[in-house]
Amino acid sequence: MTPLRLLYVALLMVLVMVAVPVWAEYADVVLNRNAEANGMRPVIYPHWFHRIRFRCKVCHSELGFEMRVGSNNINMGEILDGKYCGMCHNGDVAWSTEFCDRCHSGLPGLATGIRGASKSSGPGDY
Ligand code: HEC
Ligand code: HEC
Ligand code: HEC
Repeated sequence: MTPLRLLYVALLMVLVMVAVPVWAEYADVVLNRNAEANGMRPVIYPHWFHRIRFRCKVCHSELGFEMRVGSNNINMGEILDGKYCGMCHNGDVAWSTEFCDRCHSGLPGLATGIRGASKSSGPGDY
């Protein structure tokens, strides 16, 4: 291979390696470990929307969110106590927990996982 060709292949490999996490960063996350089992619609968490507003470490180190989809056992009681989403959704940093439908906006039957890319969530999209 010519040096130029080698460089091209190396660049391609780097692109492939960064593609996966970048995709996750900008996606929506469906959270449905216990919501639907307790009579609420699955939660659509627009990761990309938050990610462009806050540094990663705010959530993934200071607020203690594990960086793996489905790994955080988030429950409503703790949110109301000001943990997890409730650190910000308290009527101060962001609108408060009284607006159930803004978070519990997923269509019934959605499994916990990553959806979409940079598309907004919003009621009815999924
Ligand atoms: C406002 C809070 C918040 C911010 C800011 C944030 N994240 Fe996240 N992130 C989350 C939550 C919540 C989840 C889903 C956790 C779960 O499902 O239990 C998540 C999940 C992830 C995942 C898991 C994806 C997968 O496929 O398992 C990765 C990777 C990630 N975040 C990376 C980042 C990076 C990189 C940044 C900064 C550029 C960032 N996050 C900023 C809250 C945040
Ligand atoms: C800021 C986002 C947000 C808002 C607003 C919100 N929730 Fe939740 N809720 C969650 C998340 C995240 C979970 C955990 C979802 C999962 O993993 O199944 C959850 C889980 C639940 C559960 C499952 C059982 C439990 O105790 O965790 C119930 C019931 C629930 N919420 C009721 C409500 C009601 C009623 C409202 C409105 C008064 C509300 N939620 C508003 C984010 C929110
Ligand atoms: C670090 C602070 C922070 C955390 C943690 C956080 N949010 Fe938010 N969230 C915000 C802010 C700020 C907004 C924008 C509020 C506004 O527009 O008034 C927002 C907006 C949203 C929106 C609306 C997005 C849109 O398209 O308008 C949803 C849905 C949402 N958050 C769900 C969640 C859920 C679910 C969690 C927990 C898994 C969570 N948020 C955790 C700060 C946070």
